[in-house]
Amino acid sequence: MCGIVSCMGRPNETLETLMEGLGNLEYRGYDSAGVALGPDLEVRKRAGELDELRTAVSADPPAGDFGIGHTRWSTHGPPADRNAHPHTDESGRVAVVHNGIIENYQAIRDELEADGVTFTSETDTEVVPHLIARELRRGSDGTAAAGGSSSIDPADAFHAVVDRLEGSYALCATIDGHEGIFAARQGSPLVMGVGERATYLASDVPAFVERTRDVVYLEDGQRVELRPDRWTVRNADRSPAEVSIETVEYTAEATGKSGYDHYMLKEINEQPDALRQCLSGRLDELEGTIEIEELSDLPAPGSVHLVACGTSYHAAMYAATLLREAGVPAAAHLASEYATAPAPLAEDTLVVGISQSGETADTLTALREARARGARTLAVTNQVSSTAARECDDVVYIRAGPEIGVAATKTFSSQLVASLLLVEDLVDVVDDLDPLIEALRDLPGAVQEVLDTTDAREVAAEISGSDAFFFIGRGGQFPVALEGALKCKEISYEHAEGFAAGELKHGPLALVTSETPVFAIVTGDGERARKTISNIKEVEARDAPVVVVTDGRSEAARYADLVLEIPDTHPLTAPVLANVQLQLVSYHLANDLGRPIDKPRNLAKSVTVE
Ligand code: F6R
Repeated sequence: MCGIVSCMGRPNETLETLMEGLGNLEYRGYDSAGVALGPDLEVRKRAGELDELRTAVSADPPAGDFGIGHTRWSTHGPPADRNAHPHTDESGRVAVVHNGIIENYQAIRDELEADGVTFTSETDTEVVPHLIARELRRGSDGTAAAGGSSSIDPADAFHAVVDRLEGSYALCATIDGHEGIFAARQGSPLVMGVGERATYLASDVPAFVERTRDVVYLEDGQRVELRPDRWTVRNADRSPAEVSIETVEYTAEATGKSGYDHYMLKEINEQPDALRQCLSGRLDELEGTIEIEELSDLPAPGSVHLVACGTSYHAAMYAATLLREAGVPAAAHLASEYATAPAPLAEDTLVVGISQSGETADTLTALREARARGARTLAVTNQVSSTAARECDDVVYIRAGPEIGVAATKTFSSQLVASLLLVEDLVDVVDDLDPLIEALRDLPGAVQEVLDTTDAREVAAEISGSDAFFFIGRGGQFPVALEGALKCKEISYEHAEGFAAGELKHGPLALVTSETPVFAIVTGDGERARKTISNIKEVEARDAPVVVVTDGRSEAARYADLVLEIPDTHPLTAPVLANVQLQLVSYHLANDLGRPIDKPRNLAKSVTVE
């Protein structure tokens, strides 16, 4: 959801550094991009993917010792050159890049237009450079002196403008003739990279991780000034802020494609390692215990609300199923709904937000709403020091490593496993823990086996060209069916829907024809498997091709046109393995169709607007 980057201290390589940073942040938005270099302000921006900007800057390179850049995911105004960032004031004196939403922009815009200011974009961001320019023009007595020279310190002008903004923002600004970059954070991520020679600001660490791993995660309300010889962080009241420099663990290599055609395929293949990291130190085979160290003083909850969006919501559904199986009242809620229609809380209700990025606005709002009503909150996230991690009472990191592909893959697997560990730590899901510990220990290897032996490519080729794709599952495999459909539609642009297997006959069966393959996930040999096999027979009777994902413990494969096998594992870990097969089918389907897999149209990795 928009990526911003700034660089101070690489005078001969400013443009290159900004373009590289934007390339590393493109997963956050890719419908337009731009840069502004200073101190003699030069702006270049283009609608379209970053390549459009690359072409523009190589034809007419801007010069400068420092600069700011932006890659956009549209919120206000369609993708167009005029709506691309950086935005400037009328005289081109101030340039601003912004991620987030300025909620009071319309009132500010009305005020500025009444003052005679002409806007050139439909964005909320454009009010900021106009406000800064007006502030700079103000005389020391506080009156506006149109076109007059600056009699106010640029830092004061910046602070005064930020004080007026409502909503969420991470923004960077630079002013013509001034050797500095200003930045502010409120509700949208902003991290500072502190290198030996240079300082960086960005929405996310991959923007600069090739240059420094020393970072400061800025807090809401903090403001930064970068100068050629120093950086300062202040609080909203201008007092110096206390910050600590942390060293991030991942390397530049972890954010590259490592020879894969797509980040998505790389990340699917990274799942064994991601799961090892997630499990590391949390299983004690000798003692026969599962423990998440960071949760040592969290009491067992009386009930649990899980809030999340998209893929993370599917992980939340899985966690809720586990909790209910353990006898704890629990429900997964779409965060966007929970925020405005929250479920009643009891004194001992725990509200868990599951979010890969830890920055999803809908999830943050739902968690804040729960906190405001007195609930204890817990974040399950991949991003260290993300907003969710910092605002919740407790946090469990899924430790999947950086995920760049817009479609969540390895983080979903890690969310499932982290949820299982969390639930088992809080309340006992199974009576006999040893088989579960063994299955978890073997899970990375089992995922590797799926990756090494999968027939997903052949299955994708066989079903390509169908009218639609349906996915069905029960219990812990129901969220996997929903996730299979989400992944399929998101990257292949084909129509796909997931259903609880038993629901097909209550309506969706009307859509089933010989041109609608049905993926049925059937693991184990119990009641759920038997009932899902009945549902398979129902679609078979309507001539639908059936693809069964199975561990071979039931006779489901007998009724299938195509089979995707997974190793036999514990019932609670089987969803992880089934999901890997479905990820691969979607990947190959989309790849055969030539889709832009890592950057599906209209989507962005981190959705920081409601
Ligand atoms: C789909 C996908 C999205 C995210 C959703 C929530 O592949 O990635 O559905 O799961 O936008 O994002 P997080 O987990 O960052 O809160």
